[in-house]
Amino acid sequence: MSERLTIALPKGRVLRVVAPLFRQAGIDADGLLADDRTLVREVPSVNLRFLLLKPDDVPTYVEYGAADLGVCGRDVLLERAADLYQPLDLGIGRCRMVVAGMAGTPAPTGVPRIATKYPRIATEYFARQGIQADVVFVQGSVELAPLVGLADLIVDLVETGATLAQNGLEERAEVARISSVLVANRAAYKLRQDRVRPLVDALRRAVAIKAA
Ligand code: PRP
Repeated sequence: MSERLTIALPKGRVLRVVAPLFRQAGIDADGLLADDRTLVREVPSVNLRFLLLKPDDVPTYVEYGAADLGVCGRDVLLERAADLYQPLDLGIGRCRMVVAGMAGTPAPTGVPRIATKYPRIATEYFARQGIQADVVFVQGSVELAPLVGLADLIVDLVETGATLAQNGLEERAEVARISSVLVANRAAYKLRQDRVRPLVDALRRAVAIKAA
C-alpha cells in the first residue's frame, strides 16, 4: 500500500466548506464534520489522515513536514510568510482585508495607530503607502479598538461588512483579497508526487465543478 498522506485543516467555519470539496474530489470526508474533540481523523479507505488545527497553525505543520498538505487562508500565509508551495486556490473562504476607521471621521493626522491581528501585513501595507504607522497587535474583536481609543484605524477581514457597520466603522481601503488555498510541503510535493499530485488534480477538478 502507498505511504499515508497527512493533510492539515483549519477547525471552524472553513472546515464546513472544505469537507464537501474533498468529498467531491473522491475522498470520504464525512468524519471531518463529526462533532467530537479528536484532532486526528483517519480515512483508512485511501490511507490518509486529516489533522484539525487552529487556522494559524496550519502553515507550521506543513512547513515542518508534520503534514504533507494543508488548507489555509491567504491572510495567514501572508502574515506568516511561510515557505510553502501553493498549488491551488480553493476559491472558498472568500473575504477581503481592509483598512477601516470610525464612519464619518477624517483620516488621522500624524502617525496613525493601527490595531490588527495581522501586524506584518498592516506594517507592510502602510509602508507601501509611504505612511509610518504604529501597529498594535490584538487577538480578536478588532473592531472594538477605534471605538474606545486604542487605535485610529484597524486592518481586518471583512466578509459581509456587518461587523464594521454594527460598530459604526467604514472601510477606507482594500489591502488584499483573501481566499483559502491548498498549501504543500515543498519536499513532499516533489518526493511524494505519486500521492500528492493525484489529490491536487482531483481537488482542482472539484474546485472547477463548484465554480461552474
Ligand atoms: C472575522 C473578522 C471580522 C468579521 C468580519 O472575525 O475579524 O471581525 O469576521 O465578518 P463580517 O464582515 O461578515 O461581519 P471572527 O468572526 O473570525 O472573530 P474575531 O473577531 O474574534 O477574529
